[in-house]
Amino acid sequence: MAKLVRGFRDIFGPEAAALTALEAAARKVFKLYGVKELRIPTVELKELFIKSTGTTTDIVQKEMYSFEDAGHRLLALRPEGTPGVARAYIENNFTQAAPVQQFFYIGNMFRAERPQAGRYREFEQIGAEFLGNPAPAADAQAILLLKDIMQAFGVKNYSVKINSLGCEKCRPLYRQALIDYLSSSKDTLCETCQDRLERNPLRVLDCKIDGHRFAEGAPKMKLCPECEEHFNEVKRLLDGKIPYIVDTSLVRGLDYYTRTVFEFQAGDKSQNAIAAGGRYDSLIKSMGGADIPAVGWAMGAERTCLALGSLPAEEEVKVYVVSLEKSCNEYAFNVMQNLRADGIITEGGLFEKNLKGQMKQADRTKARFAVIIGGEETARGSAKLKDLTTGEQKDYPLDALAGAIKNIK
Ligand code: HAM
Repeated sequence: MAKLVRGFRDIFGPEAAALTALEAAARKVFKLYGVKELRIPTVELKELFIKSTGTTTDIVQKEMYSFEDAGHRLLALRPEGTPGVARAYIENNFTQAAPVQQFFYIGNMFRAERPQAGRYREFEQIGAEFLGNPAPAADAQAILLLKDIMQAFGVKNYSVKINSLGCEKCRPLYRQALIDYLSSSKDTLCETCQDRLERNPLRVLDCKIDGHRFAEGAPKMKLCPECEEHFNEVKRLLDGKIPYIVDTSLVRGLDYYTRTVFEFQAGDKSQNAIAAGGRYDSLIKSMGGADIPAVGWAMGAERTCLALGSLPAEEEVKVYVVSLEKSCNEYAFNVMQNLRADGIITEGGLFEKNLKGQMKQADRTKARFAVIIGGEETARGSAKLKDLTTGEQKDYPLDALAGAIKNIK
């Protein structure tokens, strides 16, 4: 039998409707902030992710779906959107033409993680990237943009954590202090963290197995004056607009972050990050572009829907059109199309079934009305409208049908 690949999912019913509603809410808010859509490909050269997402990340080390194509190119399904956006920015020469850009993308990402609730191998991200603006105002706008989308969609129960990871001036000192601190416990670290210790000690604090043991006693980051001022300004701009917690153990699992990082978290399960992001001021330069600062985030669309609690109801079918005889089918078919042209949600057309079969289907669709067409209605140019909640029925001339349906409360 045909079978789904583990970790991949079919999405339908209320969850599909919720994802569509989230995308619509996001698009509305993006418009308000002047953020423009950028459609990036699903497939990129694998090397792009190795160089940008970073060699010390789980994504690159273990989770990429990569393959060789017929031209012997080593490709990968995108595990995240930021590298593609940065590549598109460089390749399409935005640096020269219009260096300040605000992009959003909506698309599926792929990571070969161990599947569990809220963690899938194919999942949807809605992301925003602000390029070319080094000001703390960009960080604060990015965070408030995310908050406004959550609000427009109706997610309420989440907390916001922020931190600053500093820059290439202040981070090396901190890195060394962390290595010194963690080295004394090296033998007790999990295998991955032993490996990470020298290459990316910050990630040890983020480790699901070991992180909590070390996070509290770890030396604290000492930001350089510029980074400190930047972070203070971000916080000032957020104050009074969004509640947030400064969490010095927030380090994030990607290599490119500098300065501000943040996470929107909901629930207390391990897959609690519904959205996350931060500044990445060195990424574009490290990819061969100009020295262009950037900040952005990506929201896990499925996790955001889960955080909503109850999913929004699907749009209800208003009318189900039934034909009683073969000779009425075309007339009934045209009634269906006319109702749709009038903006009424209409189903029907199951004309091979008898009245009972068609009415059963009308019930299944939870339609409020059935429109029943027989020989008399066809001859008269009318339609019988049956209210399926009260059982009442009445004949209407065709040109009055849509108006009547819209008027009945
Ligand atoms: P990330 O933290 O790797 O960041 O992912 C962002 C969000 O995607 C997570 O907070 C989570 O909601 C969702 N997500 C990640 N993995 C899965 C999964 N396996 N199943 C379901 N949802 C998942 C990034 O991807 C960065 N590109 C964010 C960014 C943009 N930073 C700057 N700009």
